[in-house]
Amino acid sequence: MGPCGDAPECGAWRESFRIGDDLIDGQHQTFFRMVAEAQERADRGGVEVVGRSLNFLASYAVLHFRDEERLMAACHYPGLAEHQRAHQAFVVQVAALLKTFETAPSQVTAQEVLPMIRDWLVFHILGMDKQFEPWVERMGKP
Ligand code: FEO
Repeated sequence: MGPCGDAPECGAWRESFRIGDDLIDGQHQTFFRMVAEAQERADRGGVEVVGRSLNFLASYAVLHFRDEERLMAACHYPGLAEHQRAHQAFVVQVAALLKTFETAPSQVTAQEVLPMIRDWLVFHILGMDKQFEPWVERMGKP
């Protein structure tokens, strides 16, 4: 069981994830929706669903991380470098999963990969993204 528990609503975006920027909060919501939809497709479909989902999630992660890091820079957030390292580690992890999937698809199952991605998101948003919420709030204020 992952950090968000096994309740039925587990896997959905929650208000407590909000950091106060519409673009970033919207992207986080999209992430959770993508994982949930991938899970639904994987429950119905075959192994190729995992590869497509991983590819799509990886591309979206790169886009989101770029936007979020831009916002952090604009806010003069002092934790930017550490945060970039966490983003990079996730990109490397997903790239490794994709590589494994391409060479040995049967070793990468949706039942393992999608909850892992969702759990990473929950840990990352609550543990790291939320830390720059005060900088977002102060942005543009004298
Ligand atoms: Fe929303 Fe740091 O990723």
